[in-house]
Amino acid sequence: MAHQLILVLDFGSQYTQLIARRIREQAVYCEIHPYTLALDPELRQLREMKPTGIVLSGGPNSCYDEGAPTVTPALYDLGIPILGICYGAQLTARLLGGDVRPAERREYGRATVRVLEGQGVFKSVPAKEELAVWASHGDHVEGIPAGFVHTAESDNCKYSGFANAAKKIHCVQFHPEVVHTPRGAELLGNFLFSICGATGDWSMASFVEESVARIRAQVGADGRVICGLSGGVDSSVAAALIHKAIGDRLTCIFVDNGVLRKGEREYVATIFRDHFKVDLRVIDAEKRFLDKLADVTDPEKKRKIIGYEFIAVFEEEAKKIENARFLAQGTLYPDVIESVSFKGPSHTIKSHHNVGGLPERMHLALVEPLRELFKDEVRQLGLELGLPKHMVTRQPFPGPGLAVRCLGSLTKARLDVLRAADAIIDEEIRAAGLYESIWQSFGVLLPVRSVGVMGDARTYEEALALRAVHSRDGMTADWVQLPYDLLARISSRVINEVRGINRVVYDITSKPPGTIEWE
Ligand code: XMP
Repeated sequence: MAHQLILVLDFGSQYTQLIARRIREQAVYCEIHPYTLALDPELRQLREMKPTGIVLSGGPNSCYDEGAPTVTPALYDLGIPILGICYGAQLTARLLGGDVRPAERREYGRATVRVLEGQGVFKSVPAKEELAVWASHGDHVEGIPAGFVHTAESDNCKYSGFANAAKKIHCVQFHPEVVHTPRGAELLGNFLFSICGATGDWSMASFVEESVARIRAQVGADGRVICGLSGGVDSSVAAALIHKAIGDRLTCIFVDNGVLRKGEREYVATIFRDHFKVDLRVIDAEKRFLDKLADVTDPEKKRKIIGYEFIAVFEEEAKKIENARFLAQGTLYPDVIESVSFKGPSHTIKSHHNVGGLPERMHLALVEPLRELFKDEVRQLGLELGLPKHMVTRQPFPGPGLAVRCLGSLTKARLDVLRAADAIIDEEIRAAGLYESIWQSFGVLLPVRSVGVMGDARTYEEALALRAVHSRDGMTADWVQLPYDLLARISSRVINEVRGINRVVYDITSKPPGTIEWE
């Protein structure tokens, strides 16, 4: 089933992904492409995509600079509705004969915009009404092109909005996509539904239907797919979706590397083997990993050993599956954008289950059914496919697992101590109703012994650091101000119930300067 497409052309704004999310939240499908898609004078590729509307994003450049990103002016003659945001608005003004200059006073942060004409994106806002918006620009439009009307202004910026209704071109000099523009979604909705005539035909149910058809077409009538399950949300949802498409021609591999959380293996087996009836191969590689990790205390060495060993075990198992020609990966849209954006990759994405090199070595083609989705959409999709809520809302867990949370040497005994403490933390954070609002909450076992007293006896045991952080993407983080009574409960339960820990401390370091994991 085909659905409508809104094309977001990226000029490098830090908010481009947000534009896409705000559009998809309104049940309209959209894709981000680099602005270079609109450089071709014939616009061939762009026209083939048949977009219902086009959004020109913001960006860091000045449109009058030499070599600044641009589009071919023919874009404005296609008859496809266009929304220009910030840089997109300035570029539109300049290309159509308006005037853009550096502003005397930059407009950055909160601003108030007065609507002059309740039309176009401001259709639902009566004239003279004021809107709180988020602005971020150093250039101003000083004169709008012929045929355009002035739709909004602010104290700092005369042309906060301008539009040419006949040509369906609408421009705003602020960011409707950020939460600091409280009515931003409504303005975007006006563009989508009134101007573009979007019907809101993008839903998870239709996504499942389309993906199933696409996976079947890619894999063919007898192809087999292998999928590494990690217990995390992305690989779980990818597996559930592929299973829906090809049933028992999917084989999942779960490697127990000995540094998993308590009950993890059973958890994954219950969901996939018992509930979904997936062909699941659970590989008990605990001893193999722990032997390799014995006496290794250097964090980077631990990571390398685990990564290398994982690929080795996975490859051995994958070879046993006859006719396997495809490997499933839970790649998400942000990773895809990262690699196509004109800015180029800005940071290396850490991934344990990046089974690097394996597809080429084993001649496997990739099946990546989540490539078009954002994380929150993957969660919705998981629910749509029947995965339990506790699975799709799981906090992220690092590939090297408890190895980077068990400082010092990795013995089974110490890992069991950490597992027991970690399970208590998980239980208490969930019981307090905080699990889903926290990015990650976990324990770190420290190779530091201190003296305590329990009953009448002296203890001399290790310490546990409790870590809980808020974060949006793991790149920066703030420690969570957990309620004191919850801290007290966790501390008392861990010390009473876990042999081997006699002291609990709370980590109050944000990132930066700390990292989320201790190793
Ligand atoms: P740091 O410790 O660098 O972690 O602040 C940022 C986020 O990444 C997770 N993390 C990993 N995830 N493989 C992963 O899949 C890894 O090697 C890895 N190291 C850290 C960490 O849990 C946090 O969410």
